[in-house]
Amino acid sequence: MGDNAKLIIGDKTYEFPVLVGTENEYAIDISKLRSQSEFITLDSGFGNTGACKSAITFLDGDKGILRYRGYPIEQLAEKSTFVEISYLLIFGKLPNQKELDKFSQTFAEFSMIHEDMKNFFNAYPSGAHPMAILSAMICSLSGYYPDLVKSHMTDDLFYRLAAQLLSQVRTIAAFSYKKSIGEPFVYPRHDLKYVPNFLNMMFSSPAKPYEIREEVVRALKVLLVLHADHEQNCSTSTVRMVGSSEANLYASISAGILALWGPLHGGANQAVIEMLEAIQADGADLNKYINKAKDKTSDFRLMGFGHRVYKNFDPRAKIIKQCADDLLNKMGIHDPLLDLAKRLEEAALKDEYFVSRKLYPNVDFYSGIIYRAIGIPLNMFPVMFAIGRMPGWIAHWREMTKDPMTKIGRPRQIYTGELTRDYVSIEQRS
Ligand code: SDX
Repeated sequence: MGDNAKLIIGDKTYEFPVLVGTENEYAIDISKLRSQSEFITLDSGFGNTGACKSAITFLDGDKGILRYRGYPIEQLAEKSTFVEISYLLIFGKLPNQKELDKFSQTFAEFSMIHEDMKNFFNAYPSGAHPMAILSAMICSLSGYYPDLVKSHMTDDLFYRLAAQLLSQVRTIAAFSYKKSIGEPFVYPRHDLKYVPNFLNMMFSSPAKPYEIREEVVRALKVLLVLHADHEQNCSTSTVRMVGSSEANLYASISAGILALWGPLHGGANQAVIEMLEAIQADGADLNKYINKAKDKTSDFRLMGFGHRVYKNFDPRAKIIKQCADDLLNKMGIHDPLLDLAKRLEEAALKDEYFVSRKLYPNVDFYSGIIYRAIGIPLNMFPVMFAIGRMPGWIAHWREMTKDPMTKIGRPRQIYTGELTRDYVSIEQRS
């Protein structure tokens, strides 16, 4: 591969540097394209456009590879914990015991939110979507920690902010659930680790303590690890875009949560279950829905299928499918939606439309089966994705704010509107 790429426009030739990443990915640096040629590029959805260089996560869509700081996701899902991979993503290395203990202790120290914030929950109607509440609450945290509302901060302050956000997001999520079912809030406990603490806040009540089951803790740990980062996806790109204006981490993550809410992104895990329930209620006629998904005149999509990057298989979907099987077997649960999902996957992967477009189950296709088995309500499925993605968002925001090459994000456009015209008075208008 030469050092430069040549672009010939008319009778002019322009040269731009070629960049090669550590995994031999190639890019053409077109930073000077407009100043040299007056041209810009147009790339709807940015499928061919890199926004930045990053050392956090690598994925190869053709080979189904996903690694956090070089560690394969399969090993991390099996052997690591959510707190440990959060440290890995944010600080670039697996923590030693002392570092892990200090990180965990900081989570415990900052697991509570200010008591006044309970009033916020009381003001929401019971039907408010928990993603709206989560985004608002994360942004509202900035009102209680003014010394953390900055874009550039010391490593110590950032360390505390990262641990505090990772810890408090659980508390906010659980409080929003308790509010929605009219039960009293259950506070975080210092004697419980990350996942058991969340489950206890969600499902314990003064009348009945929650029995923390090892298989449930493991399944939720696997899901959180698998959702922790995914390079420049829509919500992470949103976090980086908002942070590029030197907005603080609370604001950047609050925006990322709202981007994740969309059914084409993190909201898909909720949409998958809604789709499966609708198919089930309509007689489970798979061919009818496969055909609807292929019919361009219908707005029906096979939710949980397809991916911008993975064109072979989503490595996370394979692990989650097995995890769902294992958990339901251990819990003695038979969920007809799991059988339906498997049959739908099998039917789609035999259909030329899906095979030719390389559409396979993604991370959202089976995750909802596990959330259902645990008892997490449907509208909280995207919240579970947000809890998982928190370390990734934090890691990318910090990487972006510390990169001297970072500039405020400001894409260009090709204007297709009216040419210049003079104002006319209202009497002259048709
Ligand atoms: C996540 O980016 C990430 O990394 C995201 C994520 C992460 O960890 O952050 O992995 C998490 O968001 C996973 C995706 C969850 N969303 C869904 O499951 C929603 C259903 N999937 C689709 O909407 C779609 O596949 C996307 C949004 C995921 C990807 O969209 P692309 O890359 O823009 O693909 P496309 O829309 O251009 O589709 C290409 C073709 C089109 O048909 P043709 O125009 O070629 O005829 O495939 C078709 C699409 O119509 N297609 C589908 C389909 N997905 C794509 N047809 C039916 N059902 C689908 N699900």
